[in-house]
Amino acid sequence: EKVILAYSGGLDTSCILKWLLEQRYEVICVLADVGQQEDFEAARQKALKIGAKEVIVADIKRNFAEQYIWPAIQMGLIYEERYLLGTSLARPCISVALIEAARRHGAKYLAHGATGKGNDQVRFELCAYALQPELKIIAPWRDVEFCRQFQGRQDLIAYAKAHGIEVTAKPATPWSTDGNMLHISYESGVLEDPNTVAPSTLYELTRDPFTQAPQKPHRVCVHFKQGLPTSVEDLSSRQVYSTPMDMLKFLNDLGGSYGIGRIDIVENRYVGLKSRGVYETPGGTILYTAHQDLEVFALDREVLRTKQMLRDRMSDFVYNGFWFSPEALYVRRCIQLAQEHVTGQVTVELSPGYCRAIARKAGDKVGALYNQQLVSMDVHGGYVPQDAGGFIAINAVRIREHVRAFGPYQTD
Ligand code: ARG
Ligand code: SIN
Repeated sequence: EKVILAYSGGLDTSCILKWLLEQRYEVICVLADVGQQEDFEAARQKALKIGAKEVIVADIKRNFAEQYIWPAIQMGLIYEERYLLGTSLARPCISVALIEAARRHGAKYLAHGATGKGNDQVRFELCAYALQPELKIIAPWRDVEFCRQFQGRQDLIAYAKAHGIEVTAKPATPWSTDGNMLHISYESGVLEDPNTVAPSTLYELTRDPFTQAPQKPHRVCVHFKQGLPTSVEDLSSRQVYSTPMDMLKFLNDLGGSYGIGRIDIVENRYVGLKSRGVYETPGGTILYTAHQDLEVFALDREVLRTKQMLRDRMSDFVYNGFWFSPEALYVRRCIQLAQEHVTGQVTVELSPGYCRAIARKAGDKVGALYNQQLVSMDVHGGYVPQDAGGFIAINAVRIREHVRAFGPYQTD
């Protein structure tokens, strides 16, 4: 039987490949290039040497940027207030490539190397079922036999050596890494104790903000059309970047040099566990900051409030693996409706470890909500200050009634 294996080139999926061959499957490996640092040709050769029938290197970077990262920025997705969902967003995109390969090769099985304790298993499998309902999943890390054979990393290394699978030259880091063009995540190993500070050598995308970042600030201007970034201008060099891939690359390099976008958090996994993770999302953090600023500036207050509730729902959907689901489809369309007037530009200033919006301009064919005349301390602009007296008096009815009923507030 043919099986599509989501292959990474690493130790786990290399052993899984060999193990599947031992179970008499014909294995087609799919190596998804979502912008992670990897020698794809070396990984391809490695899989072929182990015995893969075919290795497909799927370059899905552009699709990932345009169809997943950009909508996520537009929707302002953020999980538990901090995590910009770099891994969560890549999973559905990779799943599409896996399913395409399964269709092309007439494979009935899909195998992956996600553990039984994580989010990724849920994401890969829910996406697979959404895209190809009759597909059968092989998850070795949930297989009783497999787990008996491989109880830890040492067993994997021993098995690899016994089967002539090269164990990578670079010493394995004592944590697990997952990277793409939006972020790198680090989990497990020495990070499992949430009270242990992550070693400074862990960070790959960002420099240390205090010792290595430039001390002079740097400004960029991000342009948006209906909530989607359309171009980024480097205000120092006047260079303009106008495709999602170019914008991300530029902002990752620049933001990384300033040490922007590092977080160290404990998050709630969908399966019910709490897990500690460290993330670096330099470019994504700058885009998120710019979009957030323009949104509060351009949106009606109550639309904004309503949209933020939907955004929190959508962030959960994406984190939990429901990118392809009726609820995600529905909420995404609602949020996109709210982005109609999120058109304009935001100047963001980068400084060591931090970025903030320092100027913004909104405008499209209907004009912007911000009314300088109306809000100015210097002119009336059509606003009737006397009306505010009644506005406050009516609001005070309820406040006064509380005091009448229950007595004065304790103030000390
Ligand atoms: N905890 C993050 C998430 O669920 C990152 C997962 C990292 N995955 C990995 N295979 N190391 O989105
Ligand atoms: C894994 O368990 O395979 C990685 C972590 C996660 O999916 O949450």
